[in-house]
Amino acid sequence: MDGAAELVFCVNGRKVIEKNVDPETMLLPYLRKKLQLTGTKYGCGGGGCGACTVMISRYNPITKRIRHYPANACLLPICSLHGAAVTTVEGVGSTKARIHPVQERIAKCHGTQCGFCTPGMVMSIYTLLRNHPEPTLDQLTDALGGNLCRCTGYRPIIDACKTFCKVSRHERIIESTSPKLFSEEEFLPLDPTQELIFPPELMIMAEKQPQRTRVFVGDRMTWISPVTLKELLEAKVKYPQAPIVMGNTSVGPEVRFKGAFHPVIISPECIEELSVVNHADDGLTLGAGLSLAQVKEILKTQTYHALLKHLGTLAGCQIRNMASLGGHIVSRHLDSDLNPLLAVGNCTLNLLSKEGERQIPLNEQFLTKCPSADLKPGEILVSVNIPYSRKWEFVSAFRQAQRQQNALAIVNSGMRVFFGEGGGIIRELSIAYGGVGPTTICAKNSCQKLIGRPWNEEMLDAACRLILDEVSLPGWAPGGKVEFKRTLLISFFFKFYLKVSQILKTMVNGTDRVLSALEDLHSRNHWGTSKYQDVDPKQLPQDPIGRPIMHLSGIKHTTGEAIYCDDMPVLDGELFLAFVTSSRAHAEIVSIDLSEALSLPGVVDIVTEEDLRGVNSFGLFGEPEKLLETQEVSCVGQLVCAVVADSEVQAKRAAKRVKIVYQDLEPVILTIEEAIRHHSFFQGERKLEYGNVDEAFKVVDQILEGEIHMGGQEHFYMETQSMLAVPKGEDQEMDVYVSSQFPKYIQVTWVAATLKVPANKIMCHVKRVGGAFGGKVTKTGIMAAITPSPHLLQTREDMLITGGRHPYLGKYKAGFMNDGRILALDVEHYCNGGSTLDESLFVIEIGLLKVDNAYKFPNLRFRGWACRTNLPSNTALRGFGFPQSGLITENCITEVAAKCGLSPEKVRMMNMYKEIDQTPYKQEIDATNLIQCWKECMATSSYSLRKVAVEKFNSENYWKKKGLAMVPLKFPVGVLSTAAAQAAALVHIYLDGSVLVTHGGIEMGQGVHTKMIQVASRELRMPMSNVHLRGTSTETVPNANVSGGSLVADLNGLAVKDACQTLLKRLEPIISKNPKGTWKDWAQAAFDESISLSATGYFRGYESHMNWETGEGHPFEYFVFGAACSEVEIDCLTGAHKNIRTDIVMDIGHSINPALDVGQIEGAFIQGMGLYTIEELKYSPQGVLYTRGPDQYKIPAVSDVPTELHVSFLPPSQNSNTLYSSKGLGEPGVFLGCSVFFAIHDAVRAARQERGLLGPLKLDSPLTPEKIRMACEDKFTKMIPRDEPGSYVPWNIPV
Ligand SMILES: Cc1cc2nc3c(=O)[nH]c(=O)nc-3n(C[C@H](O)[C@H](O)[C@H](O)COP(=O)(O)OP(=O)(O)OC[C@H]3O[C@@H](n4cnc5c(N)ncnc54)[C@H](O)[C@@H]3O)c2cc1C
Ligand code: FES
Ligand code: FES
Repeated sequence: MDGAAELVFCVNGRKVIEKNVDPETMLLPYLRKKLQLTGTKYGCGGGGCGACTVMISRYNPITKRIRHYPANACLLPICSLHGAAVTTVEGVGSTKARIHPVQERIAKCHGTQCGFCTPGMVMSIYTLLRNHPEPTLDQLTDALGGNLCRCTGYRPIIDACKTFCKVSRHERIIESTSPKLFSEEEFLPLDPTQELIFPPELMIMAEKQPQRTRVFVGDRMTWISPVTLKELLEAKVKYPQAPIVMGNTSVGPEVRFKGAFHPVIISPECIEELSVVNHADDGLTLGAGLSLAQVKEILKTQTYHALLKHLGTLAGCQIRNMASLGGHIVSRHLDSDLNPLLAVGNCTLNLLSKEGERQIPLNEQFLTKCPSADLKPGEILVSVNIPYSRKWEFVSAFRQAQRQQNALAIVNSGMRVFFGEGGGIIRELSIAYGGVGPTTICAKNSCQKLIGRPWNEEMLDAACRLILDEVSLPGWAPGGKVEFKRTLLISFFFKFYLKVSQILKTMVNGTDRVLSALEDLHSRNHWGTSKYQDVDPKQLPQDPIGRPIMHLSGIKHTTGEAIYCDDMPVLDGELFLAFVTSSRAHAEIVSIDLSEALSLPGVVDIVTEEDLRGVNSFGLFGEPEKLLETQEVSCVGQLVCAVVADSEVQAKRAAKRVKIVYQDLEPVILTIEEAIRHHSFFQGERKLEYGNVDEAFKVVDQILEGEIHMGGQEHFYMETQSMLAVPKGEDQEMDVYVSSQFPKYIQVTWVAATLKVPANKIMCHVKRVGGAFGGKVTKTGIMAAITPSPHLLQTREDMLITGGRHPYLGKYKAGFMNDGRILALDVEHYCNGGSTLDESLFVIEIGLLKVDNAYKFPNLRFRGWACRTNLPSNTALRGFGFPQSGLITENCITEVAAKCGLSPEKVRMMNMYKEIDQTPYKQEIDATNLIQCWKECMATSSYSLRKVAVEKFNSENYWKKKGLAMVPLKFPVGVLSTAAAQAAALVHIYLDGSVLVTHGGIEMGQGVHTKMIQVASRELRMPMSNVHLRGTSTETVPNANVSGGSLVADLNGLAVKDACQTLLKRLEPIISKNPKGTWKDWAQAAFDESISLSATGYFRGYESHMNWETGEGHPFEYFVFGAACSEVEIDCLTGAHKNIRTDIVMDIGHSINPALDVGQIEGAFIQGMGLYTIEELKYSPQGVLYTRGPDQYKIPAVSDVPTELHVSFLPPSQNSNTLYSSKGLGEPGVFLGCSVFFAIHDAVRAARQERGLLGPLKLDSPLTPEKIRMACEDKFTKMIPRDEPGSYVPWNIPV
């Protein structure tokens, strides 16, 4: 072995030589901090989001081939990169050199909003194109499967990437009558000859350099890279405990998130024997070092359908390219997709050690790590033998996850049966399951007992009972979903039974209706249309208002040049901060021992309550809230103290060494029901009454009472909370750079107050924010107050500390006539506010004011309570109470419809506001456009025809059902106070004629800066290219309101307009003197005449008031109307669903920028769809949030986008007070996601009806695969054992 070696690799064609490399360093921090290549983003740090995607290229001197593959830089140890070429987004293209077609097209097709996910998207597609310059649509969606985007809803990204595919234009985008949002004719052609070549130096190095083991020695860890099998075995003998790191996708997350530490790591490189592919007569031998992506390619030419199926959904493209077959097998994760299949397939493992070779079966003993069947110390896995299936042998794979793609399975399974010649009698049977125990579980005894039996219904029945008996899951089993898992065990076997029966043609009752169990859910390639308003033909061509202008940071997003808080250059003497948080839900802190943490090198200080004496408690929304708590904690995740150190790593290490002793306190209130029982509310009830409910109940035909529980939602902004405070060294001045929606609040309420200096010493700057959705208002402020140093929360901490959307319980009593008219409604809302008040009461109030959604309920009573519980405090999230409140109302309507035997759509239409009317708080409403949206949506979606088609489908298919649902939307826009809607702007004209615009709004991806430049361009009648916007700062526009509530562009635009008009008025005499002059001429002339070229603009806010005593007011300025129709297909046996089609029609007034507006609608819709279907927060009975990262919490991915997504706007309508008659669209679309919820509801109802279950159907949100499956009751759900409630402590509880 060599001594300490040099690490040599290339980044974007440049050679990097590291002489003293620290093996603990991953590529992502190395790129970002050491090489200052900040285009590659830090999202989750665990391989789950794709924000850090780079392309790795490796040259194989034996095959002389170069392999390009995408990888997650956050999990790539740099020591594994010797001889590799890394391409980051900066190497793909830049505004300074040449923009790559991928970058251009994603930007110009409006595929970026906040832009934080964009470099990762670019790299995934770029890598795909390096391997396949004309990819298929399947390859495209596969390539994007490992990249998450929280803003766009993916449709525009898919559209952009489709332009590279070899498909006809018609297949790409179905033409609509509307003008296009982008023009393909302008795009740069893709020219593969222009790409970076593999560095010849590395090629020569690979060819010529003698291959010897490299050793990299760091402070705590040694990295050994053997290059021959012999050296690998020697290293393994010397360090038997050292893991063999291949892809690092198993070891990496364990080190990062579970505190594992390995002083020595062995990472073999390019060892030929580990990459073997050998086709023999009886099977295939695959090297343990092959990546899962390579295995997938190899299997494509073989008949390993079952394995291929799992490899198509296992993780994302990046992980599949990094993870090795050997690493996957040896890790033996409980939810491994491949191990159950390999086990039933009688695979064998070829092992090697200094003692020689041996073979062991990949069987249950191996999978359960039974010492006699496991690898011995010093032994390595060289390859795997996968036998071919024999005649009359059948193998199948099944899995069900929370999301169809890139999500670990809840349960998976491999099943194999062998009949031998002479039909139908089971000779061999193997069944293995993942996800139902600590390792892969084989149903060995069950299989044994079934041998010799014919493949018939009796066997099926016996098999199900045996399996349930053998694979028993206790009620408290980790991961929860116990009854669902039990049902899947036998539902999968039923599918296997049908599949084999179909081939054997032995099905007694084998009708097409039953065979629907076998079909994969509807899957076609995506396409969408957008129909928006064209501008008035008389509008001047240079006037950009109403035109689909690209987000002005679009290109910078795609090139990685857009700067976010954590991208700022490292400062000298920079200190880092890490929080210590409570691990108990309700406890007294008995003692805190900081000594061990303080003794760690690099630790500068620990900020405790002591340091914040006098400023630790703030009155927030009328309740005191503490920054740091050192006496009594009231939730897990509460901030206790904060470690300051000279590096992020040391700060985090020290934070883990702070020892806190707790004394648990009673009560611990976690759920809404518990809060109601303990009467634990923030302040009293909020109430609104209209008409006379009690009287109305006396005259109605029927009364219905019901309730629905709705889970919370995580913001899941891709850029986690981050901030940097820079003391200026003079006069106590400080600059705070922060990812916040509310700079004034950070400046005045938190930082200045904590430091006890006037606000004029603290300036807060926000260039842009990588997604916020309401989560960067109050929580950011609290953290900023304690942050004297840069700070970036990890996704896991962020999700734990910052709370999210409020879980809700809605109870309703509706009085209605038999024809569906609802005459009386009495509704109660309870939200789970968490441990502090935050905005919970405001959320309840908004929820109450919007509970009528689109309906005129003549008599109603709404009451709401914010529950105080021992959970992290919940806060604002896009839609602010309306997505919960609206769902409760729609659920009530759906139930009323069921009672009346009518379609929900009919009851919706019947109860809708018509023309001019009055809301429950007596504000006038003109509902003409609401009705128009509804009718238009009915027409564009061909609702009636498709309803018939859905019914036909359902009558022909027993195990698959389709559902169709349409919901209307009336979203009142306003912030309930005139002062909260004021806005200001500052516009300067410089002597060269260029213009600088500043305003109080934050660019969070919604494109507000782009719209503001459009406004300035129209008002000043100058091209947009002449106007610039640098960012938001309390230095230029003080006291700005929070950016939120769909009003940012509206309010700030009016202020920008005002400033521009002031300037124009001043300059008009000069311009009229020289009408042919340029802006430079006019600016100079104004200067010469001592006319100020700078103006502030102001908008005082919409008149707005609400009197809760009288229940009357004018809280909102206007209403956004809309409707959405969604169709889904569900698999009744697994609970999977596929979004087939959604049509959205919106009334948006006059769009300022249709491309941005379509983006807001689609992005919000997909976020809402996630909320109502797959995003599920899970808490332990002790109040610990389990779901803290993309591995556990699933937001929609590219595979979840409806196959067809059509968005259209109503023709422009006048809206006199708003900016150019536009309407705010940031939030309304979220609610429309519930059309998918109700479509699933419709499908489940169809399934239940067919099974004779005609009673009420109670489905809570989110409508996950678990809830769908369990609601589609059948013989299998009846067969499973049920646990007595209260007889066990469940793993998780609904809050
Ligand atoms: C974001 C993400 C998503 C995922 N999604 C899925 C999914 O949907 N389905 C699924 O099944 N899995 C999933 N996984 C798990 C993934 O499949 C495994 O982590 C991966 O296959 C492990 O391979 P590796 O090469 O990265 O292992 P490494 O982390 O490099 O090594 C893992 C272990 O294997 C041992 N090892 C490796 N090679 C050998 C060898 N040749 N001989 C002896 N021991 C060896 C090591 O000592 C180590 O203990 C996911 C992982 C991540 C990070
Ligand atoms: S940051 Fe690497 S995948 Fe999320
Ligand atoms: S644009 Fe994708 S996360 Fe914001």
